[in-house]
Amino acid sequence: MAALPPGGRRAMVATMTDTPSVKRLAAATSAWRAAADDAAVRTRLAVQLSRRPDLADASHLPAIAAMIRDPEIDPAQFERAGWVALGPALPDPADPQAAALWLDRHDLAIALIEETQVADAAAERVLSAVRRWLLLDRKTGAFPRLAAALVRQAAINGGAWPFDAEERAALPATPDFLAAYLPAPPDAAGADFDAPVTRAVAAQYGRWPYPVWQRANAVTLRSLAETLRACGSDAPVLPDRPNILVAGCGTGREAMTLARLAPDATVTAIELSDTSLTVARARCAGQANLHLLRHDLHAVAELGQRFDYIVCSGVLHHLPDPEAGWAALVGVLAPRGAMQVALYSRIARLPVAAARMRLGALMREPVSDDLIRAARRQLIAAPVPSVTDSRDFFSTAGVHDLLFHVHEDCFDVPRIERAIDALGLKLLRFGLPTPEDAARYRELAPHDPLHRDVAAWHAYEMGHPSTFAGMYRMTLTRAS
Ligand SMILES: C[S@@+](CC[C@H](N)C(=O)[O-])C[C@H]1O[C@@H](n2cnc3c(N)ncnc32)[C@H](O)[C@@H]1O
Repeated sequence: MAALPPGGRRAMVATMTDTPSVKRLAAATSAWRAAADDAAVRTRLAVQLSRRPDLADASHLPAIAAMIRDPEIDPAQFERAGWVALGPALPDPADPQAAALWLDRHDLAIALIEETQVADAAAERVLSAVRRWLLLDRKTGAFPRLAAALVRQAAINGGAWPFDAEERAALPATPDFLAAYLPAPPDAAGADFDAPVTRAVAAQYGRWPYPVWQRANAVTLRSLAETLRACGSDAPVLPDRPNILVAGCGTGREAMTLARLAPDATVTAIELSDTSLTVARARCAGQANLHLLRHDLHAVAELGQRFDYIVCSGVLHHLPDPEAGWAALVGVLAPRGAMQVALYSRIARLPVAAARMRLGALMREPVSDDLIRAARRQLIAAPVPSVTDSRDFFSTAGVHDLLFHVHEDCFDVPRIERAIDALGLKLLRFGLPTPEDAARYRELAPHDPLHRDVAAWHAYEMGHPSTFAGMYRMTLTRAS
């Protein structure tokens, strides 16, 4: 699951002028104005806009317009910022004809629809009203660019936007626009694993491959060596050509990022789902140091390799026995290796439990795209902060992963502590998602600059229960 931003952040903007994020965004924006052709400068600005899209305003529009089709930049990073910055000019969904005219003339809006998964509720409202008008008033021929962009958007989001019976009835008469509603599903591959949970998980991702992404940044801001150095002087130093494992790589976003982050490394990425791997192979084509394999992480020892760095993000809590899967990974960790693990937090996922309760009977039906759209419709009408404002809420694959997963076994801090001990690991650093969290944690635990005091971050989470909505993220090494 991707990071879930706390809800209602737009409202906070006016009151926040001096936080670390405001300063970082201002610095990144000035740097872009001075050196827009520098890829690292562009990446830095994109990263800042992705961390705090709520801080975007019209002054960021030139930068976003310049970056949106840049093949070296991941456009998902500023998709939300783009819609927030456009927000005051966004047309009224109650007048879809005027909205269609506005969108059709607006290159940045068209590019946002074509290049990124729309993950902004206000934008979705306008765009679905326009889509309905184009269909029912048979206007697609008059707005070919906008109609084509909406077809592309549905391919990206899996057809996540709800629609009504009138639209469904009109679809057969407009076959060219059908794909703006019902994009072709991926060719779901079989899932022939023995363990029932593993089989069910592979089947889910076979139909709804995850995560949804288009392209990765060509430039990374920090090398892997720098990232590990930031974990303290006792963090392992990786060899010049490290052997890296990504366990449960899904559609390959993080494997691709890592392969670029460490160009001298060999990155092996393993995954259960053939469908996810097909997407990954297409997106990561040409990345010579990345090898994508269909392999169950329980059997990772069969690869016959030791890895200097292992990344396993958003996977272990979907295993039949997460600690057993974690142990399998520790079994292939090199003696001076490091491991990065991300796990669901039971506490941060309480809003997900609330959303599931709100869905009531829908939760008991077999999952389909129609069911996902029905669930979205219900939650759009009665939003649940931290669920309906999460990026995952805006695609069918994301909603399946977020709300309808076939198996999840969440963690809390005491369980993580027990696992670290039992697996013979040592915590190097615990990740806090935003500079504001890091600043607050510093106040609570000034003795713990590296975020290693498990009791302190347990206390921090109790006081700030949505902190780890984007998962607990930690870097570990062997205890001895
Ligand atoms: C939520 S996705 C995370 C994907 C990726 N790590 C990321 O964060 O972008 C979980 C992935 O783990 C894969 N997975 C689950 N169990 C697995 C197993 N036993 N072996 C390999 N992959 C597994 C799933 O098929 C799915 O693609």
